[in-house]
Amino acid sequence: MDYNRPDLKKARKRTFDKTLELEFKLDEKYYHIGDNKKYNVITFGCQGNEADSEVMSGILEQMGFTNSCKEDADVLIINTCAIRENAEDRFYGTVGGLKALKMKKKDMIICICGCMAQEEKTITKILEKYPQIDVVFGTHNIHMLPEYIYRAQNTNNRIIEVYSTEGSIVEKLPHTRLSNKKAWVNIMFGCDEFCTYCIVPYTRGKERSRRPQEIIKEVEGLVKDGYLEITLLGQNVNAYGKDFKDIDYTFSNLLLDLSDTGIERIRYTTSHPRDLDIETMKAMQRKNIMPHLHLPVQSGSNAILKRMNRKYTHEEYLEKIKKLKDLNPDISITTDIIVGFPGETEEDFLDTLRLCEEVDYEGAFTFIYSPREGTPAAKYSDQIDPKVSHDRLDRLHEVINSGYLKGNKRFEEKVVKVLVDGTSKNDPNMLCGYSEHNKLVNFKGNKDHIGSIVNVKINEAKTWFLIGEEVE
Ligand code: 5AD
Ligand code: SF4
Repeated sequence: MDYNRPDLKKARKRTFDKTLELEFKLDEKYYHIGDNKKYNVITFGCQGNEADSEVMSGILEQMGFTNSCKEDADVLIINTCAIRENAEDRFYGTVGGLKALKMKKKDMIICICGCMAQEEKTITKILEKYPQIDVVFGTHNIHMLPEYIYRAQNTNNRIIEVYSTEGSIVEKLPHTRLSNKKAWVNIMFGCDEFCTYCIVPYTRGKERSRRPQEIIKEVEGLVKDGYLEITLLGQNVNAYGKDFKDIDYTFSNLLLDLSDTGIERIRYTTSHPRDLDIETMKAMQRKNIMPHLHLPVQSGSNAILKRMNRKYTHEEYLEKIKKLKDLNPDISITTDIIVGFPGETEEDFLDTLRLCEEVDYEGAFTFIYSPREGTPAAKYSDQIDPKVSHDRLDRLHEVINSGYLKGNKRFEEKVVKVLVDGTSKNDPNMLCGYSEHNKLVNFKGNKDHIGSIVNVKINEAKTWFLIGEEVE
């Protein structure tokens, strides 16, 4: 069979070739192949995947498909995540459950894409054990989706089209966004950091930035369409523009130009502490750039940071935080932390706890280290006993949770601006949304204000959210 299979070793290589730019245009022959047919996309993983799923939905809708639940779908896409083992386990659980559905609905086309598709071991397993999957494509070729669906409809062959090196930056992609007020905006793709635990540089390819004028045009369009908030996406947004050979234009330039579009709220994720510069910290003083920074530290131990290839020390990280707070005293800082990295001693872990207290984080995503095949750390001999890692995670949670609560408490009796997402999941009489500092707020208010920014007086701070009432 004629398969294009991934190769993690090839994916590790970096080329300095100029990134090609393409414009997406749906070929006429695919215009109506989705007429009277339905699609569904299941998304695992990060905001990058959510953004990709919105693009795939946009492409499918251009082809005539309409959205449905997974049981009714003629085309079902599963967008996968490879960051930790539990994400992979959840994917296999979902696919296992599709066997019965496919038996009932033989013409259904099941497609797998995303980061797991970029791994050799996934392809081997799919070919051996999951005949219900018809199409596999990777992170570099989602714009080819129409062709793959056409081929799947017209042949009986399984389609495996995964490329290990990045293709072009594709502009003019359609999006079917889940929200009509908040939008993801990709500013760059890939990652060149090669933290030793992380699979992303292999699954997402080398760092390449979208041209500023394309991003600015996209955001101007969003403003015109009534969007209030954008979140700029990239694995390391602070490296934005470093790959441009013809212009000198960095992340802080982009922030300022996007601030000038007049969009109400700008957020961004994720930042790398080494590349976060003073210009970006200063740009954050703009009113429409939100006072929240997610700055993954991963560990507070210098020995572990070195083995992780993070390229900064505990002290350098704190120095950046100090500058950031000097320039933006009101800012809320959150982070990512991994416990149980190979070789992590009790002393190393205590350094992490100490750093959390020194920074005063207002939240964190915390993870137990998960070995990823093909990455350097997976081969380290001193892997940590899972019992020790779980114990460290529990102790870390205590520190992080008290930071959450302290960070929320500072808003008690204050009025905050909330972009109203809708009614609260737990209480349909309450509304919910996020404040400028990215705090979840549940409040009594006017349902007509869903989709707009309102003032909310905070009456009580809980660990995970704030409670308040709408005021004039
Ligand atoms: N094990 C555990 N956590 C990981 N992350 C990335 N790779 C791994 C891994 N192998 C975490 C990091 C990163 C976040 C997105 O996921 O903390 O910042
Ligand atoms: Fe992974 Fe490190 Fe790149 Fe983040 S910066 S995506 S943790 S390699």
